[in-house]
Amino acid sequence: MKITKICCIGAGYVGGPTMAVIAKKNPHIKVTIVDINAERIAAWNDKDLSKLPIYEPGLAEIVEETRGRNLFFSTEIDKTIKESEMIFISVNTPTKTYGKGKGMAADLKYVELCARNIAEVATTDKIVVEKSTLPVRTAQAIKSILHNTGSDVKFDILSNPEFLAEGTAVQDLLNPDRVLIGGESEEAIESLANVYGSWVSQDRILRTNVWSSELSKLTANAFLAQRISSINAISELCEHTEANVNEVAKAIGMDSRIGPKFLNASIGFGGSCFQKDILNLVYIARSYNLQAVADYWEQVIILNDHQKRRFSDHLISTLYNTVSGKKIAMLGWAFKKDTNDTRESAAIYVADHLLNEQANIAVYDPKVNDKKVQADLNYLNTRTEEENKDLVQSYNDPYEVTKDAHAVAIMTEWDEFKTYDWKKIYNHMKKPAFIFDGRNILDKTEMEKIGFEYSSIGK
Ligand code: UDX
Ligand code: UDX
Repeated sequence: MKITKICCIGAGYVGGPTMAVIAKKNPHIKVTIVDINAERIAAWNDKDLSKLPIYEPGLAEIVEETRGRNLFFSTEIDKTIKESEMIFISVNTPTKTYGKGKGMAADLKYVELCARNIAEVATTDKIVVEKSTLPVRTAQAIKSILHNTGSDVKFDILSNPEFLAEGTAVQDLLNPDRVLIGGESEEAIESLANVYGSWVSQDRILRTNVWSSELSKLTANAFLAQRISSINAISELCEHTEANVNEVAKAIGMDSRIGPKFLNASIGFGGSCFQKDILNLVYIARSYNLQAVADYWEQVIILNDHQKRRFSDHLISTLYNTVSGKKIAMLGWAFKKDTNDTRESAAIYVADHLLNEQANIAVYDPKVNDKKVQADLNYLNTRTEEENKDLVQSYNDPYEVTKDAHAVAIMTEWDEFKTYDWKKIYNHMKKPAFIFDGRNILDKTEMEKIGFEYSSIGK
């Protein structure tokens, strides 16, 4: 099928950047991103590019180049579905918060709504592309909904999981390690391969069956997360043995079979994907009665929770076993640098533990505002919104946030944190002044020279 118009349902962290790059590289294709959230669409259409709902390095420039040319943001879902030959489903698939599979399985309610919506309004043949990360065999459900419309419209379903990482989304999209397309119809697969073929060489475009494609996405995230839990497990051992986790990571990473990436010990991984996808994998394994497989992968999450918990426990015990009434300055709230996304950020959980001990939390993140910080804490439901408001303050300035603080906790590895005047920060903190470097980004010797009591992960 010749593709002249693409519709993407879901203007989020995945849909937004992915479609912007597809539009940039395919000026002959009209790409329209639709969303039920009118406020989000308005933000994507804002003249002021600093107001885009998603912060990603390089994204604003691409939106500026393509928006109004062949990239459009709209709430007209039915109309856009109708006119497009290819429809991407890129809505969120959060962990279920109710019913069967609560806390484990992916909630496919939005994906199903999209499929029903497409089935309802389509009058011409469509290629439907699953972009959202989905449990294995979801395509089957979509297929069943689409094929039972009673009309003679033909639907081909493809799985095309996205491997971009936030913070480097644009670069990852422009130079992907691979593009994965799973499907039954060769013609549909080639239609999508041609869209990517505008900038990705064909040998990097993998064609598989639908189920392999769906499972590969879950597996990739599980393997990546497993590496972090593995190095984090070793970091705790390092702290008891005088080994240094950075040295260990370097030494093992030089083995070409292991490789150097994704070996940074940290306060634990966050983000919308790792935890959700592993829980989902565990749930699927259990549903096939594969207990050993499920237990194996679940351990990655257990270790990650342990890492977050032990960071806050260490902070509390170092501050003479009490943080009650003490100002703890958190640098960073996003789940990693170069994004404004805070989903599952370790900072949220560490703050929550410290709040249980009646700490006063002061937050500074270059891209996250107070509204988001409060919403993240309120979502946990640990205490009332008023209590969170009382105990947690956000600041716009790294020097204000650290003033009179008993401790600084580095939660996100933002580059700017390394460039601060740490002497100035030391001078206006309470003494002894503590730094808990959850990302190992500062120099221990330098910090100790200034006078800080410095501790980091795995050293
Ligand atoms: C993506 C993937 O799709 C998800 O499967 C993956 O695991 C995480 O990343 P993401 O783009 O990060 O999701 O989600 P989000 O930023 O929440 O965007 C989803 C958008 O879909 C939202 O703007 C939401 O309003 C929209 N949506 C949701 C619809 O337009 N229709 C719906 O029925 C549901
Ligand atoms: C991840 C996958 O990398 C991507 O391929 C997939 O499409 C979506 O999920 P993302 O969650 O955006 O991407 O970011 P990623 O760079 O993978 O980081 C995830 C978390 O792991 C962050 O909290 C990060 O700080 C942490 N991390 C990463 C570490 O703690 N140590 C590392 O060495 C690497």
